[in-house]
Amino acid sequence: MCGIVGYMGSQRAYDILIQGLKRLEYRGYDSAGVALIDNDGCMAVHKSQGKVANLETRAQAGNIGGNLGIAHTRWATHGEPSDVNAHPHVSQSGEIALVHNGTIENYAVLKQALADHGYEFKSETDTEVLVQLIEYIKHTTSCSLLDAVREALLQVEGAYAIAVVEKGDPDTMIVARKSSPLVIGVGDNETFIASDATPIVGYTDKVIYLKDNEIGVIRRGEPLKVISLTDNKPSDVDIQQLKLSLAQLEKGGYDTFMLKEIFEQPATLRDCLRGRIVDNSSHVTLSGVELNKDRFINAERITLVACGTSWHAALIGKRLIQDFCKMPVEVEYASEFRYGNPVLNDKDIVISISQSGETADTLAAIQLAREKGAFVYGICNVVGASIPRNTDSGTYIHVGPEIGVASTKAFTGQVTVLTLLALCVGQLRGAIDDETVKKVATALNEIPDTIEEALKVAPEIKTLSRVFSYAHNFLYLGRGYNYPTALEGALKLKEISYIHAEGYPAAEMKHGPIALIDHDMPSVVIAPTDSLYDKIISNVQQVKSRGGTVVAIVSKGNSTMNKIADFCIEIPDVPECLTPLVASIPLQLLAYYIAVNKGKDVDQPRNLAKSVTVE
Ligand code: F6R
Repeated sequence: MCGIVGYMGSQRAYDILIQGLKRLEYRGYDSAGVALIDNDGCMAVHKSQGKVANLETRAQAGNIGGNLGIAHTRWATHGEPSDVNAHPHVSQSGEIALVHNGTIENYAVLKQALADHGYEFKSETDTEVLVQLIEYIKHTTSCSLLDAVREALLQVEGAYAIAVVEKGDPDTMIVARKSSPLVIGVGDNETFIASDATPIVGYTDKVIYLKDNEIGVIRRGEPLKVISLTDNKPSDVDIQQLKLSLAQLEKGGYDTFMLKEIFEQPATLRDCLRGRIVDNSSHVTLSGVELNKDRFINAERITLVACGTSWHAALIGKRLIQDFCKMPVEVEYASEFRYGNPVLNDKDIVISISQSGETADTLAAIQLAREKGAFVYGICNVVGASIPRNTDSGTYIHVGPEIGVASTKAFTGQVTVLTLLALCVGQLRGAIDDETVKKVATALNEIPDTIEEALKVAPEIKTLSRVFSYAHNFLYLGRGYNYPTALEGALKLKEISYIHAEGYPAAEMKHGPIALIDHDMPSVVIAPTDSLYDKIISNVQQVKSRGGTVVAIVSKGNSTMNKIADFCIEIPDVPECLTPLVASIPLQLLAYYIAVNKGKDVDQPRNLAKSVTVE
């Protein structure tokens, strides 16, 4: 959801910024831009609608020199994607340039006040208001850029990560954050800033995660200074070691990041499980839970909050926690929960699930839950992100950077951690017997190998995908543990192929969606041999008897479904609670190959961004 990057050092800033934008492009790709200050203090601004490649073509025709610069890749919120709405935005006099990730909520009021002082606006963005406000304060009070930025931010409501540079000063960059992420990379006589650490990897492994309401002052030849926005006093600078490698940010021989991420799930789940199933699979250990075991033992209810794919993982988590911990569980969309006046107390545990750890609604939901006295636990992928820094405790899924916009390996990592958590809490509460722990933990430990086996179905799915690329609508049906799998399969197809798809609990289909069924609307039915298999067979028959086409995902060795369904895809047999992990593999592949057949950009589907840092 918009990516910002900045550089000050002795290398050509443009090259570092463009490479950084490409690594951040997953956050938004409606437009991109760069502002450079050369060593004489001249400012050059280049902007272009569309992807970073368009910006490169345009910028190279102009001045791209200088060792200081800021850049932006946009996911449009205020104003359509266009050259003029692209960042950086420049103040009226052309002196100050700014890039911004977030939303200025009171921009309309500020804009009117500035207009009353004679300011004119070129774009429809909230960001232009902020840069004009900084200039207005600087001009009217004759203060420094730093003081003007600080004063302006005190007037702003909303979320921001910003970087600001000024014409005539090739030695200063000011950055700040509130509710949107900002990482500072500290190199030898050079400083990098970015929305996440990916543009910094390969240059330095020393990073600082700026905190909310902090301003970073980057001056050439001086150590980085961090000050508090509210009291203007210096804050402690906590330099951390970055544990990301360049290889993790590359496609590694695959055509797309999404395909790489689908195929690396055996490896990512090995990392996710490492050290968490112990004592010959008789015990599950999660330090975040065990350090707070009284909270988990005494809890009266768990509420899972998340968005999108992470919400689907939460629905599976609900089943797991109910089954293994025998306690009430609720699942909420974070965006609904935060405005739903939830009733919570200190016997409540709220678990947030987020790949990025930056989703604005999820962050707001946990902040609300904490204010209401609940214990807040985070399940997150990105180390050091805002959500894990705002929770009481938590678990990282450790699946490595997910760059394809459609989530795949993060989903299986989330479901894996939720399974571990349900087993761990179930043991602590004495709600699960040893035999069940052993059976599930053993199979979970083997899940990386099982998924490796499941991925062998890829060539078959590739062929099958050709049959279905024509379809305009799909139905995904599942029951029990696999109703959320159906939702997730439908979401994957929608996101990357733009084919309309609906996920439904299979039995609910006859209360409405069955009216849609004809031979042009395929149904993908998740039907492993589990406790609801006989029920789902009837649902498949209901579809078939109305002329529908059925693709069934079945357990290996199934000998009944192929007599009813048109196509059967086999998955390895696992305990019922683990079937979503395995069944999601063919669904990811089906969505992927259909989208590729249709010529879609699977890594950067239209209108989407990976990290949704606005409401
Ligand atoms: C779908 C997808 C999104 C995210 C959602 C939440 O493939 O990626 O639906 O799951 O935007 O993002 P996180 O998990 O980062 O909070």
